[in-house]
Amino acid sequence: MKDQVNIKIGSYDDYYKDANKVRDAVFCVEQKIPADTEKDEKDETSTHIVLFVRNEPVSTLRVFEENGEYVFGRVATLSCHRGKGYGKKVMLALHNWAREKGIKKLTCHAQEAVKDFYVKFGYEIEGEPFLEAGIRHLKMSFSDRL
Ligand SMILES: CC(C)(COP(=O)(O)OP(=O)(O)OC[C@H]1O[C@@H](n2cnc3c(N)ncnc32)[C@H](O)[C@@H]1OP(=O)(O)O)[C@@H](O)C(=O)NCCC(=O)NCCS
Repeated sequence: MKDQVNIKIGSYDDYYKDANKVRDAVFCVEQKIPADTEKDEKDETSTHIVLFVRNEPVSTLRVFEENGEYVFGRVATLSCHRGKGYGKKVMLALHNWAREKGIKKLTCHAQEAVKDFYVKFGYEIEGEPFLEAGIRHLKMSFSDRL
């Protein structure tokens, strides 16, 4: 039987708890990023996108506005569900959300190791790599086809 997949988009109160289940497993447990680094004040003002499979959160990201830029991050899929196209669905949901809001450009701080994931969607690198939570990151942005 085909998995039942739903994507939800909402505020901290709506979906942070679900997003956090995925983020805890991926960033805190798998990548060993301390919880007080992974969690920050941006979560409360972010829009959270969560993909559910049979009502369980599996893939997520957050997006917030900062100094006129729309910045997304905390992109994660549970390890046992990777390679099934769920991360892509969440990214496309982000792009649709941005298009509906008339947002012209999206930016992220991408872990260097997964930059090609973002390149597939048309993101381009801006500047030099830098460290965040001890991990090499790149600023990447996308504006062409929103
Ligand atoms: C990166 C991540 C979110 C991808 O999620 P996913 O659900 O496995 O991605 P999908 O299955 O939707 O893959 C979509 C496309 O990206 C490609 N892709 C997936 N992971 C990739 C990676 N790490 N590097 C390069 N390409 C990748 C897939 O091959 C697929 O390509 P296709 O459309 O040509 O078939 C997931 O691997 C993850 O959670 N990683 C750990 C957390 C992390 O590093 N997050 C990024 C923080 S910046």
